[in-house]
Amino acid sequence: MRESRALAQGAVEFLSKHPGVSMMALGSGAHADSLDLSPLGVPVHYLPAERNLDLAAQYLALNQLAFGGIGVPRWVLSDLYLLPGAIGLLRCPARMVKREVRERLGLADEDPTIGAAYYAAPSVTPGLFIGVSLLSCLPGTGAAPWVKVLTLAMMRATRLRGVAQWDNPSVRVHARLGPLRLVGRVPGGHEYGERTFVYESDLSDGARVAEAMERRLSLSPTRRVSVTDLPTLSGLLDRAEAGEELHLVPPGQDAGHVLVREGAL
Ligand SMILES: CC(C)(COP(=O)(O)OP(=O)(O)OC[C@H]1O[C@@H](n2cnc3c(N)ncnc32)[C@H](O)[C@@H]1OP(=O)(O)O)[C@@H](O)C(=O)NCCC(=O)NCCS
Repeated sequence: MRESRALAQGAVEFLSKHPGVSMMALGSGAHADSLDLSPLGVPVHYLPAERNLDLAAQYLALNQLAFGGIGVPRWVLSDLYLLPGAIGLLRCPARMVKREVRERLGLADEDPTIGAAYYAAPSVTPGLFIGVSLLSCLPGTGAAPWVKVLTLAMMRATRLRGVAQWDNPSVRVHARLGPLRLVGRVPGGHEYGERTFVYESDLSDGARVAEAMERRLSLSPTRRVSVTDLPTLSGLLDRAEAGEELHLVPPGQDAGHVLVREGAL
């Protein structure tokens, strides 16, 4: 991500609006030196997963709470999240997170807890990361897009491929980072295959990411498609897979519709 003063400023503003929130990373100790532990100027406290088993257990519980039946199994967390990479975390006192989460995890108000987390897996293509899990227990704060941006900056990602469902509010979070180019269906299929798509975000230009984060990036859609109109959405994925340029443009989703732009940006 090319550096941007506006993006760094946005990160500082987010953190100053939410005192008590700080950035951490949890991964194999081997990776600490390979990461940018001051992404956008924000200090990241790196916690080696070998010695922070309680935090790993809390992440596991939160992931399973957030994703239900497709929550991460423990061995996948170790083998495919923590050994090859690191999870970006926003930590905060438990009083700041949703009550339901506090109760499920048995936390007292001042216990430090995970407020939001993002994991993107490294891929064999240089600079390209694969978005795996985004979760937030701090609704309405901007924690979800910020943990995503900060984690990707920490990883030095320049491109991101991710998987999302048309009807998930996360589409709006993903579109905070800029237009989502439709890539197609999930390779190998997916539990929610009929409503799921792969997108790609270009993260090379931090100034553009900053514009999108502030919702200043305006690209008019050519079509609005209902998130429940699966035949039309499937047709869009056919076209994307055939090589046509199609994007979901910010804010990505609006009043039950995805905002599609056909053709070059
Ligand atoms: C997806 C998730 C990370 C979003 O985090 P969040 O804290 O709810 O994020 P926000 O409160 O900032 O809401 C995100 C956006 O969705 C919108 N939104 C939230 N709930 C909504 C709903 N029920 N219907 C429509 N829009 C909704 C918000 O207005 C916001 O958009 P905006 O910032 O452009 O106004 C969180 O809901 C979560 O952890 N979900 C479970 C795991 C999951 O599904 N992850 C996504 C995998 S791709």
